[in-house]
Amino acid sequence: MTSTTIPTGLGSEAAASSGVTLRTLDRGEAAVVLAVFAGMGPRSRALRFLAPKPRLTGGDVRRLAAVDQHDHVAVLASSAHDGLPVGIARFIRDRDVPQSAELALDVVDQWQGRGVGTLLLDAIVRRAVALGVRRATVLVSSDNVAVLRLLARFPGGAVSSVGVERGVAEYAVSLTAPSWTEVST
Ligand SMILES: CC(C)(COP(=O)(O)OP(=O)(O)OC[C@H]1O[C@@H](n2cnc3c(N)ncnc32)[C@H](O)[C@@H]1OP(=O)(O)O)[C@@H](O)C(=O)NCCC(=O)NCCS
Repeated sequence: MTSTTIPTGLGSEAAASSGVTLRTLDRGEAAVVLAVFAGMGPRSRALRFLAPKPRLTGGDVRRLAAVDQHDHVAVLASSAHDGLPVGIARFIRDRDVPQSAELALDVVDQWQGRGVGTLLLDAIVRRAVALGVRRATVLVSSDNVAVLRLLARFPGGAVSSVGVERGVAEYAVSLTAPSWTEVST
């Protein structure tokens, strides 16, 4: 295995308190991709894929596992207790505009709301910035409260809404080194 353990800018305390360890996904780790998908219920899957998604096809799995550590990078969160995969954040670089990439996040249902998404977002933004990505887009179902809350204090830069079409909003983010914003609730 060649993956790299990811130090998070949120500090080892944040990782320890959420009970996960982070590392980069290795190319071809299909079992991990399938395990995270299996831990997501119908609503989480639909929020992630922006349409009902009962199962991943073989092509989906190959594509999601086809990381290359430069144009397609994924960070895996695993339970510190039993090592099971609990979430993945990834960016896929735009072929035509290499300083741009699309971000996506998946956290298994049982682990949502415990800070894993925040850690993953921080880690993937750090990787993206280190690899020259300066702008990220995120496609979000308009009723996806969790992502909207994450974006409200995005670790890096200004977030702007690019547009909304059929219940899906696209946000653009200019990336710099992460610096989390406290938002009052
Ligand atoms: C979006 C997602 C990755 C967030 O992961 P997470 O581990 O739950 O995130 P965190 O625990 O760090 O919480 C992030 C914020 O979302 C809020 N949140 C988490 N789950 C929530 C829920 N079910 N409803 C409302 N808010 C929620 C948290 O309160 C937190 O906001 P706050 O810091 O302002 O209080 C996760 O919910 C998920 O995988 N959803 C399904 C797939 C998806 O929507 N992917 C995003 C499309 S790119």
